[in-house]
Amino acid sequence: DWTMDAYREQAIEAIRAQVGDKKVICGLSGGVDSSVAAVLIHEAIGDQLTCVFVDHGLLRKGESDEVVAMFRDNYNMQFIHAEEQELFLGELDGQDDPETKRKIIGRLFIDVFQKYAGEIEGAEFLAQGTLYPDVIESVSFSGGPSVTIKSHHNVGGLPEKMGLKLVEPLRELFKDEVRALGRELGLPSSFIGRHPFPGPGLAIRCPGEITRAKLDILREADAVYIDQIRKHGLYDEIWQAFVAILPVRTVGVMGDGRTYDFACALRAVNSVDGMTADYYPFSHEFLGETATRIINEVPGINRVTYDITSKPPGTIEWE
Ligand code: XMP
Repeated sequence: DWTMDAYREQAIEAIRAQVGDKKVICGLSGGVDSSVAAVLIHEAIGDQLTCVFVDHGLLRKGESDEVVAMFRDNYNMQFIHAEEQELFLGELDGQDDPETKRKIIGRLFIDVFQKYAGEIEGAEFLAQGTLYPDVIESVSFSGGPSVTIKSHHNVGGLPEKMGLKLVEPLRELFKDEVRALGRELGLPSSFIGRHPFPGPGLAIRCPGEITRAKLDILREADAVYIDQIRKHGLYDEIWQAFVAILPVRTVGVMGDGRTYDFACALRAVNSVDGMTADYYPFSHEFLGETATRIINEVPGINRVTYDITSKPPGTIEWE
């Protein structure tokens, strides 16, 4: 549309004017905001931009391949794929307190980002996908200030520490406008319409201690659930949907054997901004079919529940 086309041209000029011949680094999470910011800046300054994608081992099934394929292979960007799964999962080992887990992830994310960014000579700017709502009110998640990061691209305190200036080309836009700009820039609609995904990733969908085994089970169950949602044409009707793996195993029966496996909870909500949310009214048929598929297709899960808590009093994520 013409307004977004004009905005795009204007923003590109502004980025060029601000950056000159210096270099920019951008933390990429694979989410819509940082992706649109990166593509816009790339269009403005090309190889003066380097994106850093931190893989903390808490991503969904296939997610890191998708991000790499999209940015490095498709857009041909200067792209660092920071494979730091060992670091994150190692430090999280044995931790079961939600806030401790979040703080560890936030601290490590900053350390890692700083490490890779420090290797890019001449970087003077840090790009962030900050939106207008983030500017007018600083959004707090799950209990406010205890949350260290809002997302990968929102690295509080880092610009000052590293002596970087900020490039925030989405500062005047609302979420729906960012999506429109993303379409204008040619990002695939499958990418633009993605449900929000939290910076701490699967860590906050795995209440209690995180283990690789639980994460693997969770990834599989989540993939089946999202596949079900897509097959039923519900993906775009729902604001956010995911599976949480519960820190409990329960007894079941399959074939002629006893099982003793994890239980999981399906979550799906509708919301405008994530601050309040209603659980999504799936049909019982959908829920039954999904439970059967997960139990049949995902070894390690033998019980499926549906979370019908709205926000408030619940939060969207389980931690
Ligand atoms: P809650 O669980 O607080 O989540 O109801 C509201 C929305 O925010 C997302 N969320 C986060 N996003 N970093 C993020 O980037 C975080 O630490 C974080 N915590 C929650 C959550 O997925 C939901 O969309």
